[in-house]
Amino acid sequence: MQKREKIADLIQSDQLDRKVTVMGWIRSFRNDRFIALNDGSTIKTLQVVVDQENEDPALLKRFTVGAAVTATGKIIESQGKGQSVELVAEKLEVLGDCDADKYPIQPKKHSLEFLRENAHLRVRTNTFSAVFRIRHAVTFAIHQFFNDKGFYNIHSPIITGSDAEGAGEMFQVTTMDMDNIPVGEDGKVDYKQDFFGKATNLTVSGQLQAELAALGLSQVYTFGPTFRAENSNTSRHLAEFWMIEPEVAFADLDDNMDLAEEMLKYVIQYVMEKCDDDLQFLENRIVQEDKQKPTAERQPMDLREKLKFCVDNTFERLTYTEAFQILRNCKPNKKKKFQFVLDEWGADLQSEHERFLVEKHFKKPVILTDYPKDIKSFYMRQNDDGTTVGAMDILFPGIGEIIGGSAREERLDKLTQRMDEMGIPQDEMQWFLDTRKYGTVPHAGYGLGFERLIQFVTGMANIRDVIPFPRYPGSAEF
Ligand code: 4AD
Ligand code: MG
Repeated sequence: MQKREKIADLIQSDQLDRKVTVMGWIRSFRNDRFIALNDGSTIKTLQVVVDQENEDPALLKRFTVGAAVTATGKIIESQGKGQSVELVAEKLEVLGDCDADKYPIQPKKHSLEFLRENAHLRVRTNTFSAVFRIRHAVTFAIHQFFNDKGFYNIHSPIITGSDAEGAGEMFQVTTMDMDNIPVGEDGKVDYKQDFFGKATNLTVSGQLQAELAALGLSQVYTFGPTFRAENSNTSRHLAEFWMIEPEVAFADLDDNMDLAEEMLKYVIQYVMEKCDDDLQFLENRIVQEDKQKPTAERQPMDLREKLKFCVDNTFERLTYTEAFQILRNCKPNKKKKFQFVLDEWGADLQSEHERFLVEKHFKKPVILTDYPKDIKSFYMRQNDDGTTVGAMDILFPGIGEIIGGSAREERLDKLTQRMDEMGIPQDEMQWFLDTRKYGTVPHAGYGLGFERLIQFVTGMANIRDVIPFPRYPGSAEF
């Protein structure tokens, strides 16, 4: 195919009066003369000026919104306002027609719900192309961050036989015939006859395998899809989401918090530097939306201001117990404004409590540590008090929990004792326990919910709008 130049490069370049070819989709066609062309390389469109007098009228008719075209001509300084350069077309060709009457993506404002139903086409809108460009930048920044620090990226398996979080919210993987399931003598499903000779599921976390790798490579991270069959229809839960899970040997909870805070700040800073056009667009979008809302519901800070604030401020660190005191005595709790009123130490914190701490009390990101052991996973390192574990959750404004992690229980006796208490079968986890038998070391790690981070940096309210094809209860379309 003919070589094309990207619109992002043309807009930035100062080489004028060159002959170039661009390809893209028509966003609008004004006065039978001006095409606004977008190729996804930037939020900006290139104005293509059509020589309407000499152009075939039949061709002009095909320049509809959504049509794919290729345009060759001279790039000149723009005569009009609002753009730096424009292309004076000498040769125009339609690559793919678009029936403008039926095309769902009209040049007007669509609701996000409508665009979700048209997720196969929503990437052609400004909002979603901006979100997905930023998603890419965040991916890249995360790899950059860990690579620069000497971490190795580990590909943890997607199909596993274990439940890393012990929460039992897993999608089963099987090749058994659902209409004719083999049953053993005990009347239960005979998984020996299944593909792997045992029951398997899609992974809920790559942590356990990351731990194995860290106890040899010292510093590793995973970046992969994870699956949870929890029936959560919220704006922060997906059934299929991506998680980044660093795991570090010779590290404790403080090292873990330092790493997480540094990583978040690095990534946010990176996006601020590389994606300003897209951030500016998304920021304006939120400002426009907020105008329709009552003042109390509006964003306290503009998007870029919020990101900068996050990079510039030290995250507040406190224990669960300290946070619990604040929450139990706070106004919304006393006045029973919370859906879950906090009364007894040991209760799990809900998103409303996390958001109160971050948005109302401290007004900045918060790291909570040392949670009651009964609300956390079996692998977390037990504190000397016998009631709490070396856990850490990072809470972000507008999001709540963005990171969950801990120091790991590296002492074999303590780990097995906890597994027994929690009813986690040891025989299936010998490979995990081996690390505690052979050269065990203190180690720590965390899981960053990738989509929640994308929500934070883009300001998108619903997690279903920051992943190209969201999976959630009742929906596996596209
Ligand atoms: O807190 P979680 O469950 O921690 C783990 O899975 C640990 N194995 C991580 C580790 O220590 N290596 O999940 C980690 C993060 C959460 O803080 C949240 O941001 C995100 O993953 N997350 C979800 N994101 C979207 N949809 C869901 N259903 C999510 N569940 C968790
Ligand atoms: Mg968690």
